[in-house]
Amino acid sequence: MAYEPVLTKFVKEPNCYTLDFYKAKDLGYEALRKAVTTMQPNDVIEMVKASGLRGRGGAGFPTGLKWQFVLKDTPKPKYICCNADESEPGTFKDHLLMERNPHLLIEGCAIGCYAIGAKVAYIYIRGEFYHVQKVLEQQIEEAYRAGFLGKNIFGSGFDCDVFVHRGAGAYEAGEETALIESLEGKRAQPRIKPPFPAVSGLYNCPSAVNNVETLANVPLIISKGVEWFTSLGPEKNNGPKLYCVSGHVKNPGVFEATMDVSLKELILGDQYAGGMKDGRTLKAVIPGGSSTPVLLPDQIDIPASFDAVAKAGSMLGSAAIMAVDDTTCMVWLAKNLLAFYRHESCGKCTPCREGADWLLKLLTRIEAGEGQMKDIDLLLDVSKNIGGKTLCPFGDAEIAPVLSTIKHFRHEYEAHVREGCCTIPAPWRGTRAPALAGHH
Ligand SMILES: Cc1cc2nc3c(=O)[nH]c(=O)nc-3n(C[C@H](O)[C@H](O)[C@H](O)COP(=O)(O)O)c2cc1C
Repeated sequence: MAYEPVLTKFVKEPNCYTLDFYKAKDLGYEALRKAVTTMQPNDVIEMVKASGLRGRGGAGFPTGLKWQFVLKDTPKPKYICCNADESEPGTFKDHLLMERNPHLLIEGCAIGCYAIGAKVAYIYIRGEFYHVQKVLEQQIEEAYRAGFLGKNIFGSGFDCDVFVHRGAGAYEAGEETALIESLEGKRAQPRIKPPFPAVSGLYNCPSAVNNVETLANVPLIISKGVEWFTSLGPEKNNGPKLYCVSGHVKNPGVFEATMDVSLKELILGDQYAGGMKDGRTLKAVIPGGSSTPVLLPDQIDIPASFDAVAKAGSMLGSAAIMAVDDTTCMVWLAKNLLAFYRHESCGKCTPCREGADWLLKLLTRIEAGEGQMKDIDLLLDVSKNIGGKTLCPFGDAEIAPVLSTIKHFRHEYEAHVREGCCTIPAPWRGTRAPALAGHH
């Protein structure tokens, strides 16, 4: 039977973001009512654990377990920090959820607070999402007015406030401890772990950092049940999933499916991205956002699940699938991504800060046809000195495009050195890609 979307079912309807619509057609805060009036906080955690919900922000860590780790036996306040930074290139699913289905997230925040014993949730939103922030703030206001937020919700004695905090637009601010620093008014740089946020997070209090899509799944689990959730998708990869498909496809966009849909179907299937545009051929796939290793077309006939993509040597990450066609020079692609990583490195860890700059310099040189063969191995060597040597996974993220393009497309790197120029016949740039502005 065809899967019927639950996260994005109504997003094309004009007033889908309003509270009236949410009450008339969707969950309408009945999951929150059920949680706070009929369940103990620990029952909520147990239910989320039983569902097997895994975080949708990138790492796929089990949400129930994360909530269980939040220190309970302390007089300190606790916090839910909703990660709405969404700055990974290729990722745009949380934007859609917040703009078109904000109440599902607000309800998820409130249930999350109830589960971990918090009274406050902060939604940390990417600086560029000004319009989405306005939608969220308006709808939070509506939820207060209706008594779904504030004091003594549903007469249960549970109090909950939800605030939106706008970042200044930084990729690193999406890393959970950097997000916490930024919420505290400091520069978005990662903290040393341990202690983990569950023990010492926001204002050094126990906190859970959860992605937007993760929290949006929680009211659905409470309302539709564990069996419903686990019936969707392969084992240990359950529930509804949003995919952002972009790149050289006919119909880019956000698609909701279960994790037994294949990467291939999402790119080529008519009900999804509809195949490559302009009759071009698929050359490579970035399966989970810019920080995940590139896969080849013969590797994508696999479920778009956390486990299957990991088994294929990459990561589902933020489920941002970028399809690359045969007009793309892979050295140029790596250079383009490294320009992003160099710009976004927060600068705290030397290997990441200096390494990104060196990688970009080397890639720029090779791509311009001015590199030497030994530069290719130097890229690998520099990468080795970054991976696993930084406080947060940004370092691993910035080397993924370099290592995976060299692994699969070393011949393109060598051709640049040998021929002194790019040899990919891209119609939009002749034979030589333009250097990126500002990086020489
Ligand atoms: C550089 C960097 C950027 C990140 N950006 C985001 C982001 O924008 N949104 C997000 O949910 N997680 C992001 N993450 C992952 C978070 O650190 C964290 O794992 C996630 O918010 C946890 O939520 P989840 O368990 O619901 O997935 C990022 C991680 C790194 C290293």
